Amino acid sequence: MKRIAVMTSGGDSSGLNAAIRAVVRTGMAHDVEVFGVRQGYTGLLNGDIKPLTSFEVSGILQRGGTILQTARNEEFKTPEGQKRGLRNLNTRGIEGVVVIGGDGSLRGALGLHRLGMPVIGIPGSIDNDIWGTDMSIGVDTALNTILDALDRIRDTATSHQRAFLIEVMGRNCGYLAVMAGILGGAEIVIAPEHAITMEQVAEALEDAYVRGKTHAVAVIAEGAPFKITDLANYLDSNKSVGFEIRLTILGHIQRGGSPTAFDRLLATRMGVSAVERLLKGESGVMVALQGRKMETIALEEVVTKTRLISDEYFEMERILSR
Ligand code: ADP
Ligand code: F6P
Repeated sequence: MKRIAVMTSGGDSSGLNAAIRAVVRTGMAHDVEVFGVRQGYTGLLNGDIKPLTSFEVSGILQRGGTILQTARNEEFKTPEGQKRGLRNLNTRGIEGVVVIGGDGSLRGALGLHRLGMPVIGIPGSIDNDIWGTDMSIGVDTALNTILDALDRIRDTATSHQRAFLIEVMGRNCGYLAVMAGILGGAEIVIAPEHAITMEQVAEALEDAYVRGKTHAVAVIAEGAPFKITDLANYLDSNKSVGFEIRLTILGHIQRGGSPTAFDRLLATRMGVSAVERLLKGESGVMVALQGRKMETIALEEVVTKTRLISDEYFEMERILSR
């Protein structure tokens, strides 16, 4: 293999640049030319594919976002789109691809692999919903950002004796919400994996008030069974809670920012491993952190299974919130 390509796709997360840098420099160390595909599958379809030099990846290790930019593209989900993407790689003599992204992006990677292009996936998503890896790139940074916000909000909650509802990202997976709840000392966590009613949330907040707490914090995942605004309205009209209610939606501040040491290391290890495996002839797999080891898992398995947060953490949060 003399030419490979790297791309970032789907939602960005901190540490993508560290992974791109690792891919480029590992390629160079093996005398392989590394091309960068701009804006995910959109760039692949438009032929926006250019060589990346060592100089271009210098000074990016500590930067959030992705120098290659990212995108979501409906056309690439079709067989015609995937064939055009493959053609654009073939006409440039590219013999292997590293795709960095979330669940959807890895489905696209599997599509290319099935068409015969050697592909290795790298999990990048703040949600930590990707099957087979303990952690995905960007999760740790997002969690630290959430904790920083939560600590600040708790100061105000205590000063004003308020209950704060804080929404964090996570459409299908409550990892960020549950971890933020445990590590930020929330009174209650509402996540997609666990059925809960607004009434139960009101009871938990009221219980904190009656026990004499000076504040209460409820962390709500984006994919919770009900919307944060509906919950705030419900609690506002339910005077028995005791606390005044405020809500904060953290939104996209969770996705950017300089990656933590953990994310830099994870991204670097994954980038190095992806290129080494591609050059050894592996394809159709995602590199995955399992315990302390960098292993691989078949993309077929990754995209057919959904990682949910384990009940053990829910239980831990419930016990510690008292
Ligand atoms: P993420 O990778 O962060 O989960 P998305 O789910 O939006 O983000 O997926 C990113 C992109 O991956 C999509 O816009 C599309 O181009 C591609 N993709 C998603 N699902 C598929 C699929 N089933 N087949 C091929 N490509 C896909
Ligand atoms: O998958 C990552 C994620 O940040 C989800 O947590 C969130 O639901 C979604 O992406 C938001 O996507 P967008 O950037 O398109 O608003």
